[in-house]
Amino acid sequence: MNMRFIALAVSSAFLAIVLPLKIVFDDFHTLWVDVCIWIVSAVFAADMFFSIRRRKVRGQRVMTQYVKMWLVIDAISIIPVAVFLPHSPLQLIQLLKVIHITSFLQEYTRRKPRNAAFLRLGQFGYIILVAIHWIACAWMSIRPENRADDITRYIKSLYWATTTVATVGYGDITPNTNNEMIFAIGVMLFGVVMYGYLIGNIASLLNNMDPARVHHQENLDRVHAFMRYRNIPHELEQKINEYFNYIWEKRLSYDESSVMAMLPAGLKTEVSLYLKREVIERVSMFRNASDEFIKDIAAHIHPSIVLPGEFVFKAGETARSMYFISRGVVQVISTDNETIATLSDGDFFGEMALLHKRKRNASVRASDFTDLYVLDVATFERIVEEHPDFKLQLEETAEQRSK
Ligand code: CMP
Repeated sequence: MNMRFIALAVSSAFLAIVLPLKIVFDDFHTLWVDVCIWIVSAVFAADMFFSIRRRKVRGQRVMTQYVKMWLVIDAISIIPVAVFLPHSPLQLIQLLKVIHITSFLQEYTRRKPRNAAFLRLGQFGYIILVAIHWIACAWMSIRPENRADDITRYIKSLYWATTTVATVGYGDITPNTNNEMIFAIGVMLFGVVMYGYLIGNIASLLNNMDPARVHHQENLDRVHAFMRYRNIPHELEQKINEYFNYIWEKRLSYDESSVMAMLPAGLKTEVSLYLKREVIERVSMFRNASDEFIKDIAAHIHPSIVLPGEFVFKAGETARSMYFISRGVVQVISTDNETIATLSDGDFFGEMALLHKRKRNASVRASDFTDLYVLDVATFERIVEEHPDFKLQLEETAEQRSK
């Protein structure tokens, strides 16, 4: 969060709290309060000055936009009306600056959506507290009570404002005059609307704070509902639960392809390279490969998870892909049911049938949760044609394995 926003937020919060108090209480007409108001005006003036300077650099169009939208508001909010008219509600005009700050905040959350939920929650809290404070001050000016001291009057009003806005309404402080009753009706209506608005928004805000967890939980709930509905046996249910735990722990809960589809080609390649960096670093034949080849491979391999004991494929099956192991262990099992090799992180398999255009010569079974990256046959054929080095290395490995 930048310094400009913090300075503006603190200044406007000060005004929002002090100005209504200044209208109601004489005690707030002191030198230090006036000095603080002058400081706030100076902050607003500096902000206007820097806003104009920044926009001038960015060109005429941006400058005209600023003049049309914000110049008047920014200029008015510099005037410290409260210093000259201490009892007049006109001093609240300085709070116009809040409109500009809100738009600044919206722009900030659009650019940095990661903090948006926290900021909106903070904004809600701020609005509620300031609203209750204003209602309390307004209530004091409508209902003069000379017997109590200022602090007691303020606390009593704050208490009334809070119970009324929260629609609790204990009834221990009740409106007597017409004005008081009309004001109380307004505050109650405001409370009801605010309450509904808050309940709706806070639920969605809390969800937005950890969207990945919500997404995962929704998937889990759907699968559990399905399992109950179709009476899935307990053992199978256990396996499904383990799978969901695993993809949550390994952060594989999101469907990558749907997110990637939203990105332009250049960004897609960058994100692919980042997501697949582990497998790219681990597979030995990728280490010395050209950038072009790595980008091509990264864009076309997609993740897949195999559970412990599950077969990736069986001997004799038609080959549709080859596989790179990102993490985990698999066993290569011959047609005689013998384990002929154990492959782990950075190894690959399934290349022989694709190279020689024949059926699988062995089965492959995972001994642990295994993260694989899959290269489909069509892309495999294109890539071996375009990158003879890759083909050569695969052929060498296949030959050694045949022996
Ligand atoms: P493919 O024939 O497509 O399917 C079975 C795979 O097991 C095979 O490709 C190889 O990738 C792998 N494989 C077969 N024999 C061996 C071996 N001796 N060592 C390691 N991997 C093997």
